[in-house]
Amino acid sequence: MTQKHYFKNYAALTSLSILVFSPIPVNSNELEQKVNQLCSTCHSVNNLERSSGYSKEDWQSMLGYMVNLDPNTLNSDKLSGYLADEYPINNKRASQVINGDLTLKFNYWQVPTLGQRARDPIQGSDGIIWWVGQWGNILGRLDPVSGEMKEYTLPAGTYPHSVSLDRDLNPWFLGNKNGTVGYLDLNTEKFKVFSMPDENARDPHTGVFDNKGIFWFTLQHSNMVGKLDPVNGNIQLASLPTKNSRPYGIKLDSTGTPWVSCNGSNCLIKINTKSMELEEIKLPGEQTHTRRLAITDNDMIYYVNSGMGKLGRYNPKTGQIFEWDSPSGSKSHPYAIEYSGEAIWFNESAKRPETLVRFDLETETMQSWQIPSKEGVYSGLIRHMRMGNNGLIIHQTATNQLAEITWSK
Ligand code: HEC
Repeated sequence: MTQKHYFKNYAALTSLSILVFSPIPVNSNELEQKVNQLCSTCHSVNNLERSSGYSKEDWQSMLGYMVNLDPNTLNSDKLSGYLADEYPINNKRASQVINGDLTLKFNYWQVPTLGQRARDPIQGSDGIIWWVGQWGNILGRLDPVSGEMKEYTLPAGTYPHSVSLDRDLNPWFLGNKNGTVGYLDLNTEKFKVFSMPDENARDPHTGVFDNKGIFWFTLQHSNMVGKLDPVNGNIQLASLPTKNSRPYGIKLDSTGTPWVSCNGSNCLIKINTKSMELEEIKLPGEQTHTRRLAITDNDMIYYVNSGMGKLGRYNPKTGQIFEWDSPSGSKSHPYAIEYSGEAIWFNESAKRPETLVRFDLETETMQSWQIPSKEGVYSGLIRHMRMGNNGLIIHQTATNQLAEITWSK
């Protein structure tokens, strides 16, 4: 594995390094100040408040995923002691687990650059797993057999949200921050980047290739969906009918038709691939919003009702909609979702420990598990997951880990 190195690509590098290399604090006032500065460089300190809290030892592990613990530059022993006092173990967001007869096996990889927000891993048919480090502006490659990893720094300002693979297994990234979509050409190891044709088209988000090689993607905050033809670089955009629908997840049905889930309103969207016309399907409940969706072989559309803590199913043939409560209830915020042939899987992202839930398609019953990190520390969270060659490929953004999950009876 590549050696751990310091978070060198993120825009906050300068301020972060000043903080880390400032004098080692000793008293609790100084420690509080240090936490407020250092721990709000990448995210709000609310993350500490909202966490499940940890023992000193586990805080130490958590810190090690995000900041450099070199004793010459950071008195992490004092810091983790302070954090354990201020943020002790709690059950504010405790999850409910449903037991069952399936056992999961987690196989973990720790990605090199600290605090990069590693996410959206996808495995190609060649076995290679690609991920993006959103806050580190990174595209990463993992060979799961050797464990070898390589991190590519993306063109400045990209800050990718996701990665998808084309037919030749080139990894395509979605430039969340600079309105681009691009790929790494595996033959030349050079990036090819396409800019959005409309300056209002910001936030390219999640994408999927159809079997003709066309790339379909969502642009969450611009309320648009896009179509990119890699042969000529042409990009077509279409706006969603309802304002602020925030198109998020995107998947294809068996006919190659893309379906989109709405993170900002209670809708699903079906894209007409020829005309780019969008059909809106209204889902029940004002509070309903759906981060992502999964489509079965017989074209049933399953979605996470993130707003209401449910799993939903839309039958496009009959228009019928059915919803099941998520095991940990209405505030569990189901987020990522995937179809594995015999089951639908989703996570309860607002719960600590975070859980992975399996919905059996035959019995329509659920089993769930808490998701440990490699070192057994529970944090979060899965933002996108897809089936790999042997099982589910997931990630944990806080602990900087990727994992393959396999199961057996
Ligand atoms: C270099 C960037 C970076 C820095 C600096 C950083 N973190 Fe984080 N932290 C992350 C990322 C990435 C996540 C995952 C956020 C997400 O998915 O939204 C995270 C999440 C967390 C969480 C939430 C865990 C959960 O339950 O999901 C806690 C707690 C946390 N950080 C503590 C800290 C503390 C304490 C510090 C200061 C010592 C710190 N962080 C500094 C990158 C960083």
